Amino acid sequence: MTIPTPTSNPLPVPDAVPQGLPDVAALTSLAAQFFAALPGAAGNGAGHLPSNPVPANPQPAGFSPGPLAHGPALPGAFAPGANVAPANPQDGAAVLASTPSLAPKAVAANGLPDHAAIVPPALNGRFGGHSLGVSQVSPRTAPGAGGASPFYFLTDTAPYAPQSPAPDLPREDRVTARSFGLPGADDLKALLAGDQATKAPARAATPQPARGAFDVNAVRRDFPILQERVNGRQLVWFDNAATTQKPRQVIERLSYFYEHENSNIHRAAHELAARATDAYEKARETVRRFINAPSVNEMIFTRGTTESINLIAKSWGARNIGEGDEIIVSNLEHHANIVPWQQLAGSVGAKIRVIPVDDDGQVILSEYQRLLGPKVKLVAVTQVSNALGTVVPVKEIVDLAHRNGSRALVDGAQSISHMRVDVQDIGADFFVFSGHKIFGPTGIGAVWAKAEILDDMPPWQGGGNMIEDVTFERTRFQPAPNKFEAGTGNIADAVGLGAALEYVEGWGIGTIGRYEHELLDYATHLLRPIKGVRLVGTARDKASVLSFTLAGYTTHEVGVALNEEGIAVRTGHHCAQPILRRFGLETTVRPSLAFYNTRDEVDRFIQVVQRLSQAPR
Ligand code: ALA
Repeated sequence: MTIPTPTSNPLPVPDAVPQGLPDVAALTSLAAQFFAALPGAAGNGAGHLPSNPVPANPQPAGFSPGPLAHGPALPGAFAPGANVAPANPQDGAAVLASTPSLAPKAVAANGLPDHAAIVPPALNGRFGGHSLGVSQVSPRTAPGAGGASPFYFLTDTAPYAPQSPAPDLPREDRVTARSFGLPGADDLKALLAGDQATKAPARAATPQPARGAFDVNAVRRDFPILQERVNGRQLVWFDNAATTQKPRQVIERLSYFYEHENSNIHRAAHELAARATDAYEKARETVRRFINAPSVNEMIFTRGTTESINLIAKSWGARNIGEGDEIIVSNLEHHANIVPWQQLAGSVGAKIRVIPVDDDGQVILSEYQRLLGPKVKLVAVTQVSNALGTVVPVKEIVDLAHRNGSRALVDGAQSISHMRVDVQDIGADFFVFSGHKIFGPTGIGAVWAKAEILDDMPPWQGGGNMIEDVTFERTRFQPAPNKFEAGTGNIADAVGLGAALEYVEGWGIGTIGRYEHELLDYATHLLRPIKGVRLVGTARDKASVLSFTLAGYTTHEVGVALNEEGIAVRTGHHCAQPILRRFGLETTVRPSLAFYNTRDEVDRFIQVVQRLSQAPR
């Protein structure tokens, strides 16, 4: 089979490639040239792939001092000469293989047929393998895996060692194929020769900044999905209040779990049960540490915030709230912190009382104080409003609840990724959050509650994994947390949540919060003056969220126009209808920011809103 003649600026290719399996020497040569063409690779400058639009990214991705850019400089915004490499280590290799719109079709403009440009699966980030950092050897025999694991019961096994280390690890910030986690030419030869299981070297560390030096481009390189293209534009993910994207450290951790640890937990003598159990319990400890809970036995894994609140309502609530009692919530609450309490109140004859908010969207503490009284058994409030972004003074609210003799629950679904959470400092009785809001997997979250409260709470579900002894006459339960984790839980995603929290710890939640705060200020400053924009939620303390309407357009139309430019925002009621109705609205447009977002992305968003505003239908 003959390769068609390249039409322009060709990458040299061998004359012939046999049918069937690719020729090792030919592919090795191609791949070596490809890696040599990567920015910063030895001898770079001569060769490049002319027809594949790999972003050159001469400025740090997301930072151009465009016409809209003003206000205080964000950390890491301009680093002359830095970040000349693709924003994502996969850009070079995986773009060819896994981005259909960019991959050569049949005979592409670069003259290469599809099969000649296909990257072997082991090099394709989407298919895992060596380049993703998934170990090709068992933990028992992994190079450098010495000593007893603090996490495994079995002393001769090694714990998971992240291939993309947490960001606080020392790193070499030079730009080479190896430093992007791609193998060099020798590694590639070994891979193509089929002996990667024994010869593949450990994946080079993902470049990471020095501790304390926040570099949004380094953050962005950890989130592969940020390189997706939507409608021909690089994705802007401004739907972080709905769910956050996942760093490769989390993705790799999940793969590693399923490749090396997967088992049910707690009840087997075999090694994988021990590995899975230890990974799961390590994640529980990480969650405890992240929110500064006093004991790991106070941390219960759930599917997320909604299930956490349902657990509390159906267990603690059913035992402690009765006819005539009152439950206080705020007008800001997500449906997840309203409906379970309504269901409970309906079944026992209790009442829901609501703390009103002012026109900025902040709770009115004086009104709250007026609601407190002897019948109030629980105060349940969010720490950050998902619809408006208001940061609620939960510490004060909890303190007032306790002085009233009431229990207090804080919903941390929207606060957990934006600010330091210290449950002992907040002082609440219950704290709940979801993993997927903090760069972890969906379907995993947690309840924290004080030990003495958990001891007094009955299980809310019954089954395996939570019993001490069962006869047909009676069941004895294990203590918390197992008492509340009936059945096989979401083991892998709990482990993934632990990896997400470690990732956030690596950057430091304080650093993340400061960066986001400046970005939110920047976006607010640009959005608010646009003709026809009504910003809903203008409290002094806000996190992440800009909720707005635009005169002349439905919120859905604004969302569609943004999507056409590759910008993802949520439009609708955000599962918080009461607070939108407080402002006379049924829906808003809701961009919500995270620490991988940039001013440049904000500028792109603002340009669309400005264009719509200037051309009302
Ligand atoms: N609660 C999530 C949101 O605010 C789903 O969008």
